[in-house]
Amino acid sequence: YADSDAASKAIAHEIAAIIRQKAHEDKPAVLGLATGSSPKKVYSELIRMHREEGLSFQNVVTYNLDEYYPMEADAVQSYVRFMREQLFDHVDIPAGNWHLPDGTLSLDKIGEFCKDYETQIERYGGLDFQLLGIGRNGHIGFNEPGSLINSRTRLMTLDLTTQIDAAGDFGGLAKVSKKAITMGVQKIMEAKRVVLCAWGEHKAMNVARAVEGQVSSDVPASYLQLHENASFIIDTSAASQLT
Ligand code: F6R
Repeated sequence: YADSDAASKAIAHEIAAIIRQKAHEDKPAVLGLATGSSPKKVYSELIRMHREEGLSFQNVVTYNLDEYYPMEADAVQSYVRFMREQLFDHVDIPAGNWHLPDGTLSLDKIGEFCKDYETQIERYGGLDFQLLGIGRNGHIGFNEPGSLINSRTRLMTLDLTTQIDAAGDFGGLAKVSKKAITMGVQKIMEAKRVVLCAWGEHKAMNVARAVEGQVSSDVPASYLQLHENASFIIDTSAASQLT
């Protein structure tokens, strides 16, 4: 796409089509969602469609990719807060239908929580749609380089590059959460449809490594080459390093 506006609209329209189709079948639409700067315009287009075109989220169930750890839900950097501000508080999704990893758990409860997060997704028959961004080191969710294709939902230590990229939000590198709970690569790969979005030249190198490089744990987004129904929806600058 020429720009992220047109691309974000196309992604939102694809998501809306799934929501409407599932509603027609009287079934939940199970969405895996991402935070960060990349999906913001997708969410604003979904809100517009809710307001202006009657798109209902009554049948929508969501599971977000990740949350910093530890993290209070109302903290400025919290992904719960991000999702409420960017989407949930502006549409008619029922309160119990959205889920994020819980950044307030004690360490000994995280393993059980992660297993349950996956079990819940499995009970719905998996994710109908997974939205992703890509990190400067090729991560998807917070599956940092080294993450295996069958990795499970778990507590991860964040790479230094990820911490540096988050420093602005936390008011300095020293204050950045060093860990996060992330959905594993396995659940992402099991989603029926995966869309990774990336805008801008600073993403170009990693987009090229993920799409045209070797499939490798060095670039977790490269695993998507092995997915049967994954697309990278990008703007021309993010595509500029593709051969
Ligand atoms: C966020 C997430 C991350 C981001 C990635 C890109 O939930 O899973 O993988 O998608 O770090 O972040 P932005 O979009 O801010 O460049």
